[in-house]
Amino acid sequence: MKVTVVGAGNVGATVANVLALKKFASEVVLLDIKEGVSEGKAMDMMQTAHMLNFDTKITGVTNDYAATAGSKVIVVTSGIPRKPGMSREDLIGTNAKIVKSVVDQALKYSPEAIFVIISNPMDAMTYLTIKDTKLPRERIIGQGGMLDSSRFRYYLAEALKAAGIPATPTDVDGMVIGGHSDKTMVPLASIATYKGIPVKQLLSQEALDDAIAKTKVGGATLTKLLGTSAWYAPGAAAAALVEAIAVDAKKLIPCCVYLDGEYGEKDLCIGVPVVLGAKGIEKIVDLKLEGAEKDNFAESVTAARHTNSLLADALK
Ligand code: LAC
Repeated sequence: MKVTVVGAGNVGATVANVLALKKFASEVVLLDIKEGVSEGKAMDMMQTAHMLNFDTKITGVTNDYAATAGSKVIVVTSGIPRKPGMSREDLIGTNAKIVKSVVDQALKYSPEAIFVIISNPMDAMTYLTIKDTKLPRERIIGQGGMLDSSRFRYYLAEALKAAGIPATPTDVDGMVIGGHSDKTMVPLASIATYKGIPVKQLLSQEALDDAIAKTKVGGATLTKLLGTSAWYAPGAAAAALVEAIAVDAKKLIPCCVYLDGEYGEKDLCIGVPVVLGAKGIEKIVDLKLEGAEKDNFAESVTAARHTNSLLADALK
């Protein structure tokens, strides 16, 4: 199976690298507009093939979409990352045009492809892609929930450790829905568990609130530390989505998808749990949200609609 990753920056290169390590793809094409960068990164990764024991062929190309022809999945990471102090939404003016152009060109050569959108502001870029391509919604998936849920598990594990429980992120189950946005993502503490035990029974409300707050600004925290946005976890999250599609895993993963009545919403892309398989989104799971989590999701919807309303201007 062939996968294309557009954008050979930190996130795109990490996606390609993790895909190779997972060994299910026959070919990964890494495309960038900067001459030589994707060729160099692809060559560097191929020189790990012997040591890391993978047979995936990684090819780097400069803006040559013909080389991406026949891809099953196209991962879009193009655009600028945020700098410290910026919100993801601040990037819309630059990234909307880039994402539209990338999607249009990639679709020409891979008309059957499933798109995984990572570029920020991701929910709006996913919405833009669906409006622009008019593809069935099953084939347009935004990556945010997988990453944010992984960060939530990390912060819950840290909180459990501080409470004297020796947890690791793999011991913890937790899901984040809503927009991939500092202020409005919705970590669902009500259904988070440690080895099946509700974390609410193990953590004080204060500790739980702290883990939620840290999760929401998880990306911003890293941007401040790194001077640019994170890449290891975002890259691994996208690779996990590609894997679920490639191996028809039918895994429940929170992803940004186009809602058409689910959660009482229409004409909007936002994070909700979905079943991912060979066809892309195979099912949208309509959770019954309650209390503050329901209100927070509604706020997230309002914020996502506002960002979408900026798209027309951003594309001018
Ligand atoms: C993050 C960016 C990639 O959350 O959205 O790290």
